[in-house]
Amino acid sequence: MVLQRYKLQIASHFVAQTGWTAEELANLMEVPPDRTLGDLALPCFKLAKTMRLAPPVIAQALAQDLQTCTIVHHAEATGGYLNVRLTRETVTTDTLVHLRSDDTVFQDARGAGQTVAIDLSSPNIAKPFSMGHLRSTVIGTALANLFETSGYKTVRINHLGDWGTQFGKIIVAYRTYGDEATVSANPITELNRLYVQFHEEANERPELDDAARAAFKRLEDGNEEDLTLWRYMIDVSMKEFEKTYRLLGTKFDYNLGESFYNDKMDAVVDELREKGLLEESDGAEVVQLGETMPPCLIRRSDGATLYPTRDLAAALYRARHFHADHLLYVVGGEQRLHFQQVFAVLRKMGYTFADACEHIAFGLMRMGGKKMSTRKGQIVRLQEVLDEAITRARAIIEEKNPHLQNADAVARAVGVGAVIFNDLKTYRLHDIDFTMDTALAFDGETGPYVQYAHARTCSILRKAGVLQAGPSVEGWVTSLPNTHAEDAVDDATWYLTLTLQGIEAIRVRAIEERDPSLVAKHALDIAQAFNRFYHDCPILTSDGELKAMRLALTDAVRVALLHAMTWLGIEAPSEI
Ligand code: ARG
Repeated sequence: MVLQRYKLQIASHFVAQTGWTAEELANLMEVPPDRTLGDLALPCFKLAKTMRLAPPVIAQALAQDLQTCTIVHHAEATGGYLNVRLTRETVTTDTLVHLRSDDTVFQDARGAGQTVAIDLSSPNIAKPFSMGHLRSTVIGTALANLFETSGYKTVRINHLGDWGTQFGKIIVAYRTYGDEATVSANPITELNRLYVQFHEEANERPELDDAARAAFKRLEDGNEEDLTLWRYMIDVSMKEFEKTYRLLGTKFDYNLGESFYNDKMDAVVDELREKGLLEESDGAEVVQLGETMPPCLIRRSDGATLYPTRDLAAALYRARHFHADHLLYVVGGEQRLHFQQVFAVLRKMGYTFADACEHIAFGLMRMGGKKMSTRKGQIVRLQEVLDEAITRARAIIEEKNPHLQNADAVARAVGVGAVIFNDLKTYRLHDIDFTMDTALAFDGETGPYVQYAHARTCSILRKAGVLQAGPSVEGWVTSLPNTHAEDAVDDATWYLTLTLQGIEAIRVRAIEERDPSLVAKHALDIAQAFNRFYHDCPILTSDGELKAMRLALTDAVRVALLHAMTWLGIEAPSEI
């Protein structure tokens, strides 16, 4: 990482005098909170102990050592701190070289040979694809993309909710007060309405719940008539989900619904029994998890299996069949207990991979302050939100750039990108209150703002004659200047350089912390720094080396933003 390299280079000048290694000294160095003090600082307090000198004395002595260091413009002792100002021209050129030539900036091989199974999206059959599932889909996709930049093999699994008692309920509702014509005209809406109606009526008539349980049991026992209805529900739901996935650009390696594990659950139950973990409780079979957690329900008294049982079978499958080294579950925070229980049961079964299972939780998505629930029928369909975002993006584009070619495709990229970015810029555990205006504002902390900055870099490079018109081009389009003009690096240029430098560390941290918001925020930082640079520094009207340097920097911004947006699963049109 660039900054680390500078730290080491500077630190190497201090080794003789301090008796510390360059690595130890580099680890002490920090970026001063007040940038007017310098670009890097070395607090000398720890050195004082081994050198038996006062920190200000050490700081002063070390400042002398830096007189021959080419990347240091100026070093000064302030109290116990040594503040260092870097040579802006050298560092800017060096950063550009590093971004282009070092293949650890945008990718590396940290994860080579390791597999990450990612459970993402996983909507429920016969229910609309909600804004809630959007979070899982986009966070999961961004994480998978990021893991791949570090050489991990990823397996993206859509764990569709296609099994469970709710199907008993829908089947009963359909047979009691549904009718085929209405359902086939508008399948998902109608099936969801039947589900909502079932819950309302079951409040008054508890016998409906018994009928639903019996219907699900029949399904589990393979009743053909019920299975046909169930298959129909899967069919209509998948058609609808696929429309959404196409818009979002979501790809899965496997659609493995809960029902896929039906023939794998007896083995799990047997294994639990053999290992002496299964206990009876009110006729049901459970695994006790001690004082801190309620028992995990494995089988109901009528023999029907449950959500946790299916997750146990799925985890074993992922570990064995995909040889997953990490098992990630991108699922809302409300299922925390469920995953704690499932992972605890795996641990009790003696599986060490239980420690490689992680619940990647996230907060709620609210629309106008309301939580969404399919049971009460308050649901905002993602498809409607996306359609509206695209329509609005289309109107904004029409106003900004009425002659834009491919305006429909660009509007789709901007509208969808706005919705995705709005989600990803929020730290995943925080709740989101979605408002269309905020998500689409071209001058806010938004997807369109980042996309627009990227399109602006493309437009500048096009006008300079170095970028072809048309779709985004990966790879570098401008050559680096050989020398650089004195005083070419003003504050805006310098700030942009430092921000660009950060992308490597951010990418690595986002993977380690499973936090795509770091990338989204960094993309905003780059876009903001670039806009300031664009405002302060004429690019196309400058000359010679200065122009070459500014074009090279613009190109670096283009490539960095293109990568960041690709990781986030957002398109980067070259013209907006
Ligand atoms: N279908 C579930 C829901 O919408 C999410 C499934 C998450 N994945 C899992 N392996 N349990 O609540």
